[in-house]
Amino acid sequence: MNLFKKHIEYLTQVTTEALAHAGFDGVWIYSGHPTNNFLDDMAPPHSINPHFKWWVPVPNVVSSVLHFKPGQKPTVYLNQPADFWHKIIDNSQGQWADYFDIKVIGHYAELPDFKAEKNHAWIGSAELQPLSDAVTNPSALINYLHFSRVQKTAYEIHCIGQANALALKGHAAAEQAFYDGCSEFEIHLAYLKACEHNEHQMPYGNIVALNENPAVLHYQYQSRERLPGHELKSFLIDAGANYKGYAADITRTYAYAEGAFSEMVSKLDEHQQNLCKQAVVGQDYVALHRQAHLNIAAVLHEFKVLNCSAETAVESGLSQTFLPHGLGHYLGLQVHDVSGHVTDHVGTVRKPPAEYPYLRLTDTLRENAVITIEPGLYFIPMLLQKIAGHKDVNWEKVDAFMPYGGIRIEDNVVVKKKDSINLSR
Ligand code: GLY
Ligand code: MN
Ligand code: MN
Repeated sequence: MNLFKKHIEYLTQVTTEALAHAGFDGVWIYSGHPTNNFLDDMAPPHSINPHFKWWVPVPNVVSSVLHFKPGQKPTVYLNQPADFWHKIIDNSQGQWADYFDIKVIGHYAELPDFKAEKNHAWIGSAELQPLSDAVTNPSALINYLHFSRVQKTAYEIHCIGQANALALKGHAAAEQAFYDGCSEFEIHLAYLKACEHNEHQMPYGNIVALNENPAVLHYQYQSRERLPGHELKSFLIDAGANYKGYAADITRTYAYAEGAFSEMVSKLDEHQQNLCKQAVVGQDYVALHRQAHLNIAAVLHEFKVLNCSAETAVESGLSQTFLPHGLGHYLGLQVHDVSGHVTDHVGTVRKPPAEYPYLRLTDTLRENAVITIEPGLYFIPMLLQKIAGHKDVNWEKVDAFMPYGGIRIEDNVVVKKKDSINLSR
């Protein structure tokens, strides 16, 4: 049976359950539409409502609505306006269309009368909210669907795998551009070209960081300056790709020359691969995050950046100076996919531990969840200043590693009972 057919069967099943749970007879799911910038007639790139994308694998959809009612074939009111300003691609064809009643409309005014259907919920952004507040994004329905989105269908895993394959082409081109001496901006362009994406198709802004810049976790600036070979030290790239609305999210770090930093990258890579192997069904992700702290503290001890044991560095909180972000997150229709702090269908929250406020995933891992494993180890001046003079830190070593910025290594993993699947290697 084809993967998309099974995917739609699963969505039909969980949406039927979710509606019964939340007490609704049906649901409208709105794609969303672009909204102009303040006092302007220009809009930022439109990001489709992920609930709509979950069903409809078509790019660039705006002002369209999906109607789902248990027992009926879902209907898509697909807006394809006759517009001489834009090229209109006919999105109503293709294999996906077999599973829907598709009604092509030429203007959003042709959308159906939403109030004509009794006891329906509305899932969509606030700009177009034709029903009452009480039935707009009701939490009982949203929580149920979000929790269901964590465990991916075979179709979704295929899509995230394809996104990874595209991203890896970009990463290979970026690595080559780095060793060729290109600027951050040139590396960024090489990446886009290799995975055949424009900026708007990327699931998030590329992080392309040379030398000390990897220490800025979400470094967003792309320097146009080419550095001479003798100044090049390190390169971190965190960049994904998009396939049918599903994201890849991969990070690699390279040293320009052999030496202590390149050895440190290799060590972290070994630990990262071990962490990926431990990401199996039933694993507590918070415990895995603590394990990552022990790993990076051990690396820092081994390279004589820390004088104390790894255990002491983690217990005292010292390791957080070097790894201030979480080990990873769910991945799917959104880069930081939903439900990371939720442990059941009714939305019970497990907050991150107080010492790790930025941990985005706190649940026990379930089969076919797709997660990232992204340990990092950074020399961040702002955080190091806060512990200036700390007796357990070898400050000469810190000064030696500071010009390299730091390391992050990130893969996308499909959780299995054993032998989880790494999509990024
Ligand atoms: N690229 C953002 C992240 O890794 O979470
Ligand atoms: Mn990333
Ligand atoms: Mn990530």
